[in-house]
Amino acid sequence: MKKILVIGSTGQIGTELSMRLRSIYGENNVVCGYYAPPYPEGFFEAGPTAYIDAQQINPIADTVRKYNIDTIYNLAAILSATAEKNPKLGWEVGVGGLMNCLDVAREYKCGLFTPSSIGAFGPDTPKDHTPQDTIQRPNTIYGITKVLGELVSDYYFKHWQVDTRSVRYPGLISNVALPGGGTTDYAVEIFYKAVKGEVFECPIQAGTFMDMMYMPDALDAAINLMEANPARLVHRNAFNITAMSFDPEMLYNEIKKYYPDFQMVYNIHPLKQHIADSWPNHLDDTCAREEWDWQSHYNLESMTKDMIDKLKRKLL
Ligand code: NAD
Ligand code: SER
Repeated sequence: MKKILVIGSTGQIGTELSMRLRSIYGENNVVCGYYAPPYPEGFFEAGPTAYIDAQQINPIADTVRKYNIDTIYNLAAILSATAEKNPKLGWEVGVGGLMNCLDVAREYKCGLFTPSSIGAFGPDTPKDHTPQDTIQRPNTIYGITKVLGELVSDYYFKHWQVDTRSVRYPGLISNVALPGGGTTDYAVEIFYKAVKGEVFECPIQAGTFMDMMYMPDALDAAINLMEANPARLVHRNAFNITAMSFDPEMLYNEIKKYYPDFQMVYNIHPLKQHIADSWPNHLDDTCAREEWDWQSHYNLESMTKDMIDKLKRKLL
């Protein structure tokens, strides 16, 4: 049975990934690293926890030793729009935190999953069917930390056989924890407004396409990649994956099937728009499909239906 440490376990992905990992591997075999509130309800009662600032190597190493950890999911990061306002912090958490995880993983022979992002691409990258191996010249500090993270993770694998694996997540849509300050957050926020019967101010222009994914697919991706047969992996850091690509109008029109009176107005956020304009429209995820059988299960229609069902139960 695996012994897992999740760093940044109380964020948008970590909240749900920790629950899923505990349901697979057992609640006492998954240690949830926490850093800052808010903490999910019942967080400290649900299984082992540890305060971990990813910028400090000792708490990571101490926790790995104490619980005999063999796999680390490193989710600590400052997301794209927030990092642009505090680039130094974005760098210290994104790069400093990863380097600490890599060194601990090397010393204690742990597998390490650290998500990359569509943010690892930039304005020079081919926008449609973006290949697995292509130009990566991002113009955000977030993207720079992701490219560095991909390269240095491959370096640790090639030089010291550290079992590093990663995916380039698209914008993630979910209904448990709120997103943490990214460019794609609008695709979550719009659902909360629709279900509450409020007008949604969209920060991203009509016609701006980005890759997106529903959280259940994102969790499958992380776990299935970490369970994949290493002999089949030609790539490691990091795989293109996607589930859908849409612009705000397509999402709005899909939600209007459930709420015909729902109103969306545009109030463009210049920073988020600038970032979104630099990211691809739609990734090609063939390598993930071929090397570890990646496939998504939710499209725009099924994701929208499930989001609305779940949020109605949560909010009303
Ligand atoms: P989030 O902002 O919701 O959560 C990040 C977590 O990191 C939080 O729990 C926060 O408390 C923690 N954290 C911040 N600074 C820390 C530090 N110094 N030490 C330890 N923990 C710290 O982010 P998320 O959406 O859950 O993203 C997780 C990972 O997935 C990140 O690497 C992110 O770049 C990547 N990703 C997310 C998305 C998405 O749409 N959510 C898309 C692409 C990639
Ligand atoms: N959802 C993330 C962001 O917008 C993508 O990495 O920052």
